[in-house]
Amino acid sequence: MSQEKKCPFQTQQFGRPVDNNQHSQTAGPRGPMLMQDVHLVEKMAHFNRERIPERVVHAKGYGAFGTFTVTNDITEYCMADLFSEVGKRTETFARFSTVGGESGSADTARDPRGFSMKFYTDEGVWDLVGNNTPIFFIRDPLKFSDFIRTQKREPQSHLKPHWRRWDFWGEVPEALHQVMFLYGDRGTPKSARFMNGYGSHTFSVYNREGIRHWVKFHFKTEQGIENFSADEAIKLAGEAPDYSTRDLFDAIDAGDFPKWKMHIQVMPESEAAGYKWHPFDLTKVWPHQDYPLIEVGTFELNRNPSNYFQDVEQAAFEPGNLVEGIGLSPDRMLQNRVLSYPDAHRYRLGVNYHQIPVNQPQCPCETYHRDGTMRVDGNGGGSVDYEPNKMGGPKETGESIEPPMPVHGDGDRYDEFECDDQDYYGQPKIFWNNVLDADARERLCIAISNSMADSPQSIRDKMLKQFAKVHPEFAAGVESRLDTPADEPLPVA
Ligand code: NDP
Ligand code: HEM
Repeated sequence: MSQEKKCPFQTQQFGRPVDNNQHSQTAGPRGPMLMQDVHLVEKMAHFNRERIPERVVHAKGYGAFGTFTVTNDITEYCMADLFSEVGKRTETFARFSTVGGESGSADTARDPRGFSMKFYTDEGVWDLVGNNTPIFFIRDPLKFSDFIRTQKREPQSHLKPHWRRWDFWGEVPEALHQVMFLYGDRGTPKSARFMNGYGSHTFSVYNREGIRHWVKFHFKTEQGIENFSADEAIKLAGEAPDYSTRDLFDAIDAGDFPKWKMHIQVMPESEAAGYKWHPFDLTKVWPHQDYPLIEVGTFELNRNPSNYFQDVEQAAFEPGNLVEGIGLSPDRMLQNRVLSYPDAHRYRLGVNYHQIPVNQPQCPCETYHRDGTMRVDGNGGGSVDYEPNKMGGPKETGESIEPPMPVHGDGDRYDEFECDDQDYYGQPKIFWNNVLDADARERLCIAISNSMADSPQSIRDKMLKQFAKVHPEFAAGVESRLDTPADEPLPVA
């Protein structure tokens, strides 16, 4: 049955030509409708089922296809086929998103930005599902759903009061580093083109000799960092809520293809235990002077999706999609994300979500999975559907160079992080003292005080105590503006 031949006229979904798409069937010109109008019923029934559940987080997003090209040899660290030679090109897809808003919410909201990448390598799909920040608010997944609720709507009013997030952050001091990024200038990037991306977690890579290194992935924008001021972001949320979606689409349409330079930071496996910062703590970075950026390649976006729903809404990224040469680390958040994403996809898209074209590997694949809702890839035909067998079914390779991951200890609920002030405030202090200039500090204080305007004093107090531990001027800069009428309206959520 060929789908190739273009039909010259409109049909119903099973192929019958539509003779009239303007008038429903009625009993006489002024009479009631006829139930036998199969065309009308089909149209309405399909329409009623067109929405699928939106992503529980990162619901508003946009994306494009592209190419990754290796520009520097990292095979001494990583044997992954996509890095195997300088000049090697791999097809990619990327999706960018805000986190807390619904699928119709404003692109310019103050929020971290999702930075998800799919690499269709010759040895399977590698997904790097990161953000525009190298860190995150929490470091134990047990807190994730609680944290996300503070960013979502309040159960009774269906509004988004900001005091909920400050109440949570006031109890979770490890969040402060990311809170300072969020309320700093990079909390309102112009669009994906003008922001960096980070794998954020510590991952592992290993070479052909089975030597493992811990690694962090960085994608630096070649368009330069550009952010909206808080005022501009709020104004555009009303006037052009899809600003960033349009920005990327129009740039690619005009042949102005955005690029990011991919780098890695590499830590020898043996250094992890003695490093001054916990190397698997997602609320910390590895300072560049300790682990300098090593160039890897260029990530370019050069093709718009042909259909938003098909390619972007149905894209399913999962941190557990790894290829030989790239592995996990003990980071608790990463470990949990490996389970959480495919679970979300089975709910949102169905068990056969891997068959949706944007999610499909572009290399030969053989599994023993069969059946399930909407199986449309031939379902293995008459081939053997169990293993082991002597019926010619696919066999395991018996080969993986990944070195074993050392684990030890008794199962329990541990607080693994040394929770002293250095742990909570050490890197926020460096950020305040060394990265932000006086103007950026002032903008940070203004943005925070605006957002804390609806917080009761008890919540303000616990946050001000945290700010004071970073720098007394930080606390004073926020406190002094809390009760003065804001220069700017409340930031959008
Ligand atoms: P560096 O001086 O080498 O790096 C500072 C980093 O800060 C650069 O990567 C820069 O990104 C980034 N940066 C600049 N302005 C902002 C902002 N408003 N919000 C977020 N990031 C910003 O110093 P270190 O590596 O020693 O890091 C010092 C501090 O910088 C860290 O404690 C952390 O708070 C922050 N940081 C560190 C990163 C890392 O991976 N080491 C990454 C991002 C931030 P760019 O060069 O692209 O402008
Ligand atoms: C999306 C869970 C932490 C980045 C999602 C989704 C879930 C989820 C369920 C929706 C998936 C879908 O329906 O398609 C979690 C959990 C986390 C966590 C349980 C912590 C334990 C993080 C972190 C980052 C991140 C730390 C970034 C470093 C993203 C991105 C998306 C996403 C970018 C959107 C993916 C897309 O574009 O489709 N997350 N998340 N998440 N998450 Fe997380």
